[in-house]
Amino acid sequence: MIKACIFDLDGVIVDTAKYHYLAWQRLAKELGVSFTLEDNERLKGVSRIRSLEIILEIGGLQRSEAEKEVMATRKNQWFVDYVNAMKPEEIYPGVHELLVALKSKGIKVGLASSSKNAPAVIRLLNIEHDFDAVVDGTMIVHTKPDPEIFLKAAQILGVSPKDCVVFEDAEAGVEAALNAGMKCVGIGSAKQLGKAHRVIPKTGDFRPADLESLS
Ligand code: BG6
Ligand code: MG
Repeated sequence: MIKACIFDLDGVIVDTAKYHYLAWQRLAKELGVSFTLEDNERLKGVSRIRSLEIILEIGGLQRSEAEKEVMATRKNQWFVDYVNAMKPEEIYPGVHELLVALKSKGIKVGLASSSKNAPAVIRLLNIEHDFDAVVDGTMIVHTKPDPEIFLKAAQILGVSPKDCVVFEDAEAGVEAALNAGMKCVGIGSAKQLGKAHRVIPKTGDFRPADLESLS
């Protein structure tokens, strides 16, 4: 029986995935690397440094660890600027209502985001109190598709992995959920997220009653 729902943040709760893309695209342009929306799918769910390494790989470029640190910090500053200009209304429709409805049915609600900016983003959206546990990019060693982040969230929630459902928009995130032995609802296209147990276009389309079909 499903006892907990664990949500990714970027692209599941709010459209910050587009801000990550815009900031990486700006950096790729500076580096002279052609970086498409399709390439961007590989960056979803993975850590900041790993994202940069993927862009360098696409461009056939090599940089020292110190140079990578500087570039990742520049990208993050652009991302933070976008996020600071964001309005709480940019949360996806129906998401806050879904989190509240799940809690009222006794389902634990967790957030598991690879982003180090996750706590700031949920504060800005006024939804930090909707979560019983928050695991962000500062609390993990291994990036998705490693299951670490979801296992940590389940542990804090006190729920066995098999009784958890993960909501994810990233291929790496779906794999991480499956690697954790959890159920997964993909948010986006079945072409990208076909390994998930179910794929829906938008998080707000999900209803607590839909959990039964995942048990
Ligand atoms: C994930 C995003 O949520 O967080 C990735 O899907 C991003 O695209 C990662 O690289 C790390 O985010 P941040 O904010 O710590 O750079
Ligand atoms: Mg995401």
